[in-house]
Amino acid sequence: SCRTFVVITLFPEPVLGMLNSSILKKAQDKGLVRFIVLNLRDFGNGRYRSTDDYPYGGGGGMILRPEPVFRALQFARKILDVPLEDTQKGAPPSLRIVYPTPQGQVFHQKDAWAWSLDPRPILFLAGHYEGIDERILLGNPIEEWSAGDYVLTGGELPSLSMIDAVVRLLPGVLSDPQAPQKETFSGEMFDYPQYTRPPVFEGMEVPEVLLSGNHARIVQFRREKAREKTLRVRPELLE
Ligand code: ADE
Repeated sequence: SCRTFVVITLFPEPVLGMLNSSILKKAQDKGLVRFIVLNLRDFGNGRYRSTDDYPYGGGGGMILRPEPVFRALQFARKILDVPLEDTQKGAPPSLRIVYPTPQGQVFHQKDAWAWSLDPRPILFLAGHYEGIDERILLGNPIEEWSAGDYVLTGGELPSLSMIDAVVRLLPGVLSDPQAPQKETFSGEMFDYPQYTRPPVFEGMEVPEVLLSGNHARIVQFRREKAREKTLRVRPELLE
């Protein structure tokens, strides 16, 4: 049940840097996930491996050309052993292709849960510049997803955000398997504030209830603090 995530990007090094750090690294070492990062430049056109060009109709910015993206997708299908028909429109695809874009559905915690339960490999097509040629989107069953209502320079950070949000929910990834259920947006509320040693820092004390050993009071205190903060910062979450 090892899950596969593929990223097609013009910036493989920083993407690999993140995927090979911290908890995502540990998840790979435990055999729970594998990451395949493909450099779009390797599929570029001609001697200069060109991957982008000017938009027809003008308007500035650069657009990813369809052929390099198409070749990278074909290569990914080959190494994942996914037949081409399976990634054409109509059939239920055995590979999910995600195109991160501000024009997509906004990705929420509930989507991270759904993706964590779907065993199919997920491929992220990280665009840069002003986007990709629309014909790639027309010829493939591509899901468009947004990391939020703001604009980034590329799809790498959204891809990494989504991968991270999904991987940490896979059984065995976190040391506390209950952690994901307990936290923000699983219960439609913020987490409670946390404290660790020392008991006094810069004159500020850890709330005494947390040192009391009274579990019922601690639960009550945390619930109050979480509710207070949610009401202050995101009142709509409580409605
Ligand atoms: N690419 C640029 N901005 C983005 C965003 N907010 N979400 C997903 N992909 C993007």
